Amino acid sequence: MRLLVAFTCLLAGCLAQKPQPCVSPDLLSGEYSVVTQNEKLEIYCKYEYDAQGQRIRLKQQGTYQTKPFTQDYLLLFREGAMYQIFDTNRTCIKSALKDKFQPMHVPKDATLLAQAVLGSSSAPGQGLLVNTWTGDMPDKKGKYMTTVTEFGCIPISTSYQTDDYGWQMTNFFNNVIGILDPSQLNLPDFCKDTVMKTDEEPLNFLSLFHNLP
Ligand SMILES: *[C@@H]1O[C@H](CO)[C@@H](O)[C@H](O)[C@H]1NC(C)=O
Repeated sequence: MRLLVAFTCLLAGCLAQKPQPCVSPDLLSGEYSVVTQNEKLEIYCKYEYDAQGQRIRLKQQGTYQTKPFTQDYLLLFREGAMYQIFDTNRTCIKSALKDKFQPMHVPKDATLLAQAVLGSSSAPGQGLLVNTWTGDMPDKKGKYMTTVTEFGCIPISTSYQTDDYGWQMTNFFNNVIGILDPSQLNLPDFCKDTVMKTDEEPLNFLSLFHNLP
C-alpha cells in the first residue's frame, strides 16, 4: 500500500516544488489600476520600480469620490523623501517618507491559498500559472491577498483591507523587467532646491492613497 502511495505520488509530481514566497525582480516598469470596494477611489498608474536604488515613480490619474485627479510622485527611500511633482508649473512638494523601503515580495509568513492557471491551460500562450497568498497586514488591522506569477514572481494583483475603502484592489499589467525610462527615477532639476515640509506627519507609502483632495 505504501508503495502504491509512493508510486502515485511520483506520477502526480510529488517532486514538483511547492510554491514558495518570493521576491519580485529588482527593476520593474508597468501599469496598474486600483479600485476600491466602496467605489470611492479609482486609479490608473504608470510605475517604475527600482529596488536597487530604492526609488519608485508613480504617475497616477484617477477619480476620488467622482472628482478626477492626477498625481505624479517620486519616492526616494534612501533620502527619506517623497516628491510630488507638478510638471505644468515646474514645482514640487517634498514630504518626509516614514517607512523603510520594502522590496515587492510575498511575505515569508504568507499562507498559500492556491496555485491556479489564469486563462486556460488548453493551449500554449493561453494561460498563466500564478500563486495566490494571504496573510495579515503588518498593523494587524486586516488581511491582504496577493497573486504573483509562479515563474518570475511578477505581481498580478494585490488586495488589502483598509478603513477608508474596504478592500482596495490593485491589478498589474504590461509589466516589463527593467526600467524603460531611467530618467523617470531621477529628481527633476526644478525639484532640487525644494525644502522638506515639516508641518505634517511623515507619510508612508499607503498614505499616497489616503491623502487625496
Ligand atoms: C502648481 O500646480 C499645481 C497643480 O496645478 C498647484 O496645485 C500648485 O499650487 C502650483 N504651485 C504653484 C507654486 O503655483
